[in-house]
Amino acid sequence: MNTSCAIEMRGITKRFGQVVANDSIDLSIKRGEILSLLGENGSGKTTLMNMLAGIYQPDEGEILQDGLPIAIRSPKDAYDHGIGMIHQHYKLVDVFTAAQNIVLGLNDQKLDLKSINAKVKAICDKYSFVIDPAMKIYDMSVSQKQTVEIVKVLYRGADILILDEPTAVLTPQETDKLFAVLHNMKADGKAVIIITHKLNEVMEISDEVAVLRKGKYIGTVKTSETDPQALTDMMVGHAVVLNIDRPKFEKPVPRLKVQGLTCIDHEGITKLDGVSFTANGGEILGVAGIAGSGQKELLESISGLYPVKEGSVSFIGGDGKAKELVGMTPMQIRKTGVGMAFVPEDRLGMGLVGSMGMTGNMMLRSWRKGKGIFLNKKSPEDLAKKIWDELEVVTPSTSFPVRRMSGGNVQKVLVGREIASQPKILMTAYPVRGLDINTSYTIYNLLTEQKMNGVAVLFVGEDLDVLLELCDRILVLCGGKVSGIVDARSATKEEIGFMMTTLGGKENA
Ligand SMILES: Nc1ncnc2c1ncn2[C@@H]1O[C@H](COP(=O)(O)OP(=O)(O)OP(=O)(O)O)[C@@H](O)[C@H]1O
Ligand SMILES: [Mg+2]
Repeated sequence: MNTSCAIEMRGITKRFGQVVANDSIDLSIKRGEILSLLGENGSGKTTLMNMLAGIYQPDEGEILQDGLPIAIRSPKDAYDHGIGMIHQHYKLVDVFTAAQNIVLGLNDQKLDLKSINAKVKAICDKYSFVIDPAMKIYDMSVSQKQTVEIVKVLYRGADILILDEPTAVLTPQETDKLFAVLHNMKADGKAVIIITHKLNEVMEISDEVAVLRKGKYIGTVKTSETDPQALTDMMVGHAVVLNIDRPKFEKPVPRLKVQGLTCIDHEGITKLDGVSFTANGGEILGVAGIAGSGQKELLESISGLYPVKEGSVSFIGGDGKAKELVGMTPMQIRKTGVGMAFVPEDRLGMGLVGSMGMTGNMMLRSWRKGKGIFLNKKSPEDLAKKIWDELEVVTPSTSFPVRRMSGGNVQKVLVGREIASQPKILMTAYPVRGLDINTSYTIYNLLTEQKMNGVAVLFVGEDLDVLLELCDRILVLCGGKVSGIVDARSATKEEIGFMMTTLGGKENA
């Protein structure tokens, strides 16, 4: 027995009906180490970890702790064994304070607030967290909510921590802070397992990387002895080319003209301030900015979902004539035949209906848009099958509820559907968030294909390397204003990073 081994999973199999989510997996988790769990979308990472967290029970196999078999039948059992999991979707009660959430379901609920706060403060001090125990969850940012989840797990005495895609919703700065905390935990002798699709994060944070492929365990490698290319090949099972082709479209033409766009939210805060730019057909225009700089409002106001205070958004047709879109609802915009497609950040809220399958969601788009959207008169079922096939969507059937599909697969369905509507303008917000590396490249190639078909593509992204490799030009937002528009072929990361925080970037420096 390896004494540093905190948990050992042996021959773990988990099935959902016909789907074998985990197929006889062996995995060891060591104390004082950070292990990355890597695998393509739908490869079984969340399922495997849910069995350690007591959400699911294995159909076959055993789990050993410090060499002895244990049974984890509920989240409480998991806590009793010192295992805590921070899930992809947080499980906090919005109307409660941080402290109330932290002690929810514990005997400590009977404790006075002062002792609870003291206990919370001790945890925060130890790992350098900052939270206000009296703050209500609904007043918190995503990163604050995540901190509460982590403190909640530590409060329950967890020394084996599982984090399922914790950085997907964080800014780069917040990610750095989280990683500092994880390093502290590791130094404290805890075992940490992190799921992330970002290979640079895997390389930065972990000691070892365990790889799953289509429900099977492929192996564990030392991070110091591997690299992103080797990890990708392991994940996919064959060599993968990780580069983005950036062809130039012969003659880009102005397609969308935005002038002086100003938006104010319900609390009177200015979200967009005099934004002006032109997006060309045959070009990918990137939108960069630190989180909350107006990216969401920009795409939503162009598509008629967010009220515009001032300014204009005009669509320039093939005949060169401009059509004003401000004041129209998304439905009205569609009726004008402008051809605008939108992949929003919130896939299952604004994008798809979770309880419906792929086919149902295809129909939804055609109903909304009116007749004639499907090229070659393809039926929604045919289209669903085509997307299933071409984007390699992992789902048992085209009627399987999208809510129960893995995160990355949901995104493929949404992007596939929007592209199939043959738009003239395609707007995407963080379209590869939560997607595995291979699928991310599939999406980049799809966007480039659209560009080469003459579509004006707007790509809101967070990874500057990708923005610089994929886009033709990049519009940088800073506090709701346009900080500048740069040529992506010649700009640098530093230049853009500076423009994101300082209006006008180097000109004002
Ligand atoms: N409750 C469920 N019912 C039916 N099938 C499920 C359920 N949970 C997971 N699956 C299936 O099990 C497989 C593995 O899913 P899982 O969520 O573990 O993948 P993942 O590796 O976490 O993917 P991602 O990176 O996209 O989050 C998928 O095919 C998924 O559709
Ligand atoms: Mg998952």
